[in-house]
Amino acid sequence: MGERWQAVDDYIAEKLFGDDDVLAATLANNAAQGLPPIDVSPAQGKMLFLFAQIAGARRILEIGTLGGYSTIWLARALPADGELVTLELEPHHAEVARANLQQAGVSDKVDIRVGPASDSLAAITGEAPFDFVFIDADKQSNAHYVAEAIRLGRPGTTIIVDNVVREGGVLEADSDDERIVGTRALFDMLSAESRLDATAVQTVGVKKWDGFVVARVR
Ligand code: SAH
Ligand code: DHB
Ligand code: MG
Repeated sequence: MGERWQAVDDYIAEKLFGDDDVLAATLANNAAQGLPPIDVSPAQGKMLFLFAQIAGARRILEIGTLGGYSTIWLARALPADGELVTLELEPHHAEVARANLQQAGVSDKVDIRVGPASDSLAAITGEAPFDFVFIDADKQSNAHYVAEAIRLGRPGTTIIVDNVVREGGVLEADSDDERIVGTRALFDMLSAESRLDATAVQTVGVKKWDGFVVARVR
């Protein structure tokens, strides 16, 4: 089935957005620099772009930059005076992302903050609220990151969380994989959180069987 999922993703890309030299160069540079190939897929990148535009986002927060592949899609959704803050633990990832964002022509809109995201988030006070938040870093911290997204958002802020299905792993209640434990803690938090409306959508494609949370701050 996986091959067919991949073929359909290729068909979708060919029909609806085609090759993009800048994004291809980003993925090539990531590979050359030894970054793991765990970026969102092209179809998911286009989805993030569309969600940010539908939300009318002017200020975007991203947690988990890697080489900036998703960052480029999101930055392209911003108006000329829009801003994107992206948080990355690994200095090498941030350095590669900086180069990729530069060649993509979106550096002026993007502020990469290096260090543990929980520290970078705690340091954000008194900035304008974020309209859109994409969470895609260490899965064990997802409940905390959503709580911070609410604190740094406003009524109507959109929150997307990547990788919440992991080939059905989310159902493993006694898992000792901290990413599964973290994902289940995220769902527990969401189910008890009266400040959000939330759902999760399962996906198949080049990233196999996974899914994302979509939430909106009330
Ligand atoms: N959003 C990217 C992929 C992110 S991969 C894309 O789709 O293109 C996850 C990233 O989160 C990795 O670069 C990893 O270094 C980073 N990360 C892991 N733990 C983190 C933490 N505690 N704080 C900030 N970033 C973290
Ligand atoms: C992994 C992380 C991701 O954000 C992703 O989209 C796919 C895989 C990982 O850590 O394996
Ligand atoms: Mg991801």
